[in-house]
Amino acid sequence: MRACRREPVPYTPIWLMRQAGRYMREYRDVRSNTTFLDLCKTPELAAEVTVTAVERLGVDAAIIFADILLILEPMGIDLEFAAGEGPVIHNPVRKPADVDRLLEIEDVSALEFVNEAIRQTRRALRPDIPLIGFCGAPFTLASYVIEGGGSKNYVHTKRLMYDDPGAWHALLSLISRGLAKYLNAQIAAGAQAVQLFDSWVGSLGPDDYREFVLPHTRSVISNVTPGVPVIHFGTGTAALLELMREAGGDVIGLDWRVRLDEGWRRVGHDVAVMGNLDPVSLFAKQDALREQVKRILDQAGGRPGHIFNLGHGILPETPVENVIALVQMVHEMSAK
Ligand code: CP3
Repeated sequence: MRACRREPVPYTPIWLMRQAGRYMREYRDVRSNTTFLDLCKTPELAAEVTVTAVERLGVDAAIIFADILLILEPMGIDLEFAAGEGPVIHNPVRKPADVDRLLEIEDVSALEFVNEAIRQTRRALRPDIPLIGFCGAPFTLASYVIEGGGSKNYVHTKRLMYDDPGAWHALLSLISRGLAKYLNAQIAAGAQAVQLFDSWVGSLGPDDYREFVLPHTRSVISNVTPGVPVIHFGTGTAALLELMREAGGDVIGLDWRVRLDEGWRRVGHDVAVMGNLDPVSLFAKQDALREQVKRILDQAGGRPGHIFNLGHGILPETPVENVIALVQMVHEMSAK
């Protein structure tokens, strides 16, 4: 929390995106008895995997176990996590009439299981470990809604954006209004910071980001309960960093395709940064990993406002002992 506010800290705090996941045996054990969606919707289990990851890794923050796509169900989207395939949406939005049939999120009661998981996690977690709530950012969520799943070239997404700007902006506004309510409900339940995941925004050039995305992301961030730090994260964003900063956030997430010192200079030293280890470094020998960690800490230069993280989520095959070693390295190498 102090790093989010750019206050001095005794050592650089670290947590890892997707820190509760399939690379961890404890997660696979819980997951083997249930589907991914049911796990998300069972607060006791979501709280358990959230807390277990923190305790096993020794990280400095928890992120609530949930998914960016959960908010789509109460909007009328038919969502499935197909085994081995990732998310599938059976009724994608392809034309303006499809936007009209989506439902406004009036209140977030349909997502009450996330709030309950947050309350239970907060009770189970060591009091000095902050709990992060999150949502997808408008562009990344729209890309799933329109493509019907993951995508390589975002052809359907960009076609709607270019051909039908009215429908595009209506869709992103609808999503954004829901997101602000969702984040504020998570905060009311006990989330102390929130993160927007704009995982696929790097598929856009800067002019399109400014016109089609920035106003919507800005509206979500500016509607977050005042005083709660917002982490604004994306990948492939080396061309977008100044614009992401303009959209908002107290902490800007950097991926590994940009040097941390250069990224921080570009977003400005009056915001904090999070990042930016290549998740694949965790597959290397620990000496090589140490070199990568040192480089990032050197680039941060001891300046207050650096939260150590990966540049994107932990990959499923990652050796858990390397993740534990990473956390210890960051703590030791950054200790003042
Ligand atoms: O970070 C955490 O530990 C909290 C939990 C979390 C999950 N998803 C759990 C999850 C968070 C923060 C997310 C965010 C999320 N979900 C993003 C943004 C982050 C990123 O990686 O870019 C995205 C794009 C999604 C959508 C999503 N969910 C995809 C594409 C997939 C399938 C791909 C995959 O990794 O399997 C999921 C499923 C998912 N979400 C899993 C987990 C642990 C794996 C599900 C399983 O157990 O089978």
